[in-house]
Amino acid sequence: MTDAALPLFGPGRHLLSVSQLDRDGLDRLFTLAEYVTPIAERKSVCTVLDGAVLCSLFFEPSTRTRLSFESAFLRLGGEVTTTTGFTFSSMAKGESIADTSRVVSGYSDVLVVRHPDEGSVAEFAAASLVPVLNAGDGAGEHPSQALLDIYTMRRELAARGKAVDGCTIAIVGDLRFGRTVHSLMKLLAIFSPVTFRLFSPPSLELPDAIATFVRDRGHTVVHCDSVVEAVAGADLVYATRVQRERMTEELPPSLRGSLLDRSMLVEAGATDIIVMHPLPRDSRSDSYDLSPSVDDLPGLAIFHQTDNGIPVRMALFLTALGVSAEAVQMTLRQRPWDARLRWEP
Ligand code: NCD
Repeated sequence: MTDAALPLFGPGRHLLSVSQLDRDGLDRLFTLAEYVTPIAERKSVCTVLDGAVLCSLFFEPSTRTRLSFESAFLRLGGEVTTTTGFTFSSMAKGESIADTSRVVSGYSDVLVVRHPDEGSVAEFAAASLVPVLNAGDGAGEHPSQALLDIYTMRRELAARGKAVDGCTIAIVGDLRFGRTVHSLMKLLAIFSPVTFRLFSPPSLELPDAIATFVRDRGHTVVHCDSVVEAVAGADLVYATRVQRERMTEELPPSLRGSLLDRSMLVEAGATDIIVMHPLPRDSRSDSYDLSPSVDDLPGLAIFHQTDNGIPVRMALFLTALGVSAEAVQMTLRQRPWDARLRWEP
């Protein structure tokens, strides 16, 4: 099935691609995410998903995506069962995606799946008895990340009196294999014209299909020769890690040093720019990623992104399972504990 043929995301529906979201659907999700934020922040507790079971299947490494999906489900009062890697699932014995999906969907109310092959999560969906949420299919898509990225952009830009509509976004790094970039650009295409200023090292350029997709919808794509050129004049910069696990060839020797560091932002006159990254960033020396030298700049939003992953994923579960804000409200109660050492603003 092509992306265009997928139904809009809603109750009882899979979420496989950002093409299943229109502006109304996005606004509804974000309103719900805002509504559940006090629960996400553990200021109150809710049990609306009491008795519901999430099964998360992660066949690729993950920290924040798996744990934030699972935390989101737990915060709504549901229970979580999980399997990680091929080694500990019966796929190691040659079981097909279809059989695996049919089996685990008989044990749960919703599946969250990450798998290294593009299109594989759609195969899970085809055999599942319950909604499947795509948590990353190879170099294909990562819709929930695009949602939390745009949710974060909206908030960070609003704090500066700006909007996502009409903004200028620099996207730098591995644009070829970075699925978060693919989903992000496609989802931004539903906004009023955005200008994308792209920089990628040789051999890691954005697939033509994505540039064409956004241009056909009236957006501007500018290819830049350096990070400094991409960032200058942009409202925000979105940096990505080189997806070494998807590359068969040797890394080009140009991929040394930092992808984006403080000196580049100084040179671009952009030390107050909003800085985003889906994370993880590779913090080893010479890793060609976002340098920690930007960490004390005022626009650093990378941990706002990770925090926002919880309410956005809570909103995805509520939507897929057809639960209203009113139903959430009916089960709300005060949090009886206080364990945080530090509250972030
Ligand atoms: C990204 C992914 O897995 O695509 N991580 C994430 O989910 N936040 C980006 C990456 O691994 O570089």
